[in-house]
Amino acid sequence: MADTVLMEKLVSLCKRRGFVFQSSEIYGGLGSVWDYGPLGVELKKNVKDRWWRAMVHARDDIEGLDAAILMHPRVWEASGHVAGFTDPLIDCRHCKNRFRADDARIKGTPGQPDAQCPVCGSKGTLTEPRLFNLMFKTFMGPVEEQAAIVYLRPETAQGIYVNYLNVLQSSRQRIPFGIAQVGKAFRNEITPGNFIFRTREFEQMEMQFFVKPGTDAEWFERWREWRMQWHRDLGLTPARLQWHQHGPDELAHYARAAFDIQYEFPFGWQEIEGIHNRGDFDLGRHQEYSGKKLEYFDQAANERYLPNIVETSAGADRVTLTLLVDAYREESVEGETRVVLGLHPAVAPIKAGVFPLVKKDGMPELATALYHDLKRRFPAFYDDSGAIGRRYRRMDEAGTPFGITVDGDTAAQRTVTIRHRDSMQQERVGLDQVAGFVAERLGLD
Ligand code: GAP
Repeated sequence: MADTVLMEKLVSLCKRRGFVFQSSEIYGGLGSVWDYGPLGVELKKNVKDRWWRAMVHARDDIEGLDAAILMHPRVWEASGHVAGFTDPLIDCRHCKNRFRADDARIKGTPGQPDAQCPVCGSKGTLTEPRLFNLMFKTFMGPVEEQAAIVYLRPETAQGIYVNYLNVLQSSRQRIPFGIAQVGKAFRNEITPGNFIFRTREFEQMEMQFFVKPGTDAEWFERWREWRMQWHRDLGLTPARLQWHQHGPDELAHYARAAFDIQYEFPFGWQEIEGIHNRGDFDLGRHQEYSGKKLEYFDQAANERYLPNIVETSAGADRVTLTLLVDAYREESVEGETRVVLGLHPAVAPIKAGVFPLVKKDGMPELATALYHDLKRRFPAFYDDSGAIGRRYRRMDEAGTPFGITVDGDTAAQRTVTIRHRDSMQQERVGLDQVAGFVAERLGLD
């Protein structure tokens, strides 16, 4: 399947089945902002919950945090975002379109008469590259003119740095320890696109691990390994995951070393998570700009130091897109095309579909009772409309791993059939064992 075709099919399935909708669609949409529908919100929540379980609940050395989106404006001066979170951009004075300076479609030298606009084709209308800050600004206070400018955070990390001492002291942790946070971030991206891959409003799952200087390289390697394993455990095709090491010209201003976990999307290998050795840049800058000491006192060694930070930073939307792309497949079954989302049962939005074979002979009553029983334990869906084959297909498209059918034998034998989404194999299971059967196979570790 051609790559653009796959993305088009995925976008269309996401709308049809209620995974993702364009924001403000009835007004013509808002550029690169997306809304998650009933199935999408479950899928993304499962990603975030899984991350939280692995990073916070399963470990003794990481604490959770939920910092506000709005922060003191000085935070963004200290972090380097006011001065450095910029892209060089070129405007076309004729059609008013804006391009990144590295846009391969631009012919000639911007600012010179030979340069040609890739959209309207005008010559000599492109400006020289100018720096454009990617942070969204807003005003805080009742009167706009006198109000302070505040920013919508472009990353969640800074909320962790400014709270590091609060968390350290209140949780009685000791270094090495980490703080994890999931939350919205905003960037006025100039070349957004590829569906939910690069958007202007997105969610990050970030963890900052505070370590003793000199041990940072070692922790960096550990975190690289653990994070790659987490993506593999989501059921992603291993051959579609790879490392990309940042060269000296790619490294962010704060990073001593950085590796991206990349996934092979239909539009190429792209970053889904970054692992960064940030050294003492962040705490050093916040100490300088706030005038507050942010050193750690190691009682056992009787020494004081500014911790180094190893960061793991993943996009919840990007991981969600990765799961959708990896799971999408079409198969030919008895002359018909079957569309399947082969999602790992742990992240599938609905875990089981429940179907009475026909709407009579007591089957709906038995199926409804089973459905309510299952729904107490995990998301289930009841469907009694149309041929059973169609009902299975609808669940295949939604990524539901198990289809449970109540048929003519159920009342007498107290059994149902369970159909497996991927193999389409069916097996007979006792009515009172269905919940346990499904729960056991969800892999919710
Ligand atoms: N605190 C470090 C940081 O923010 P980053 O590489 O700029 O690093 C980390 O972003 C992750 O956030 C990326 O790997 C990606 O998954 C996600 N992300 C960044 N910009 C995004 C955007 N515009 N849309 C969706 N996800 C984005």
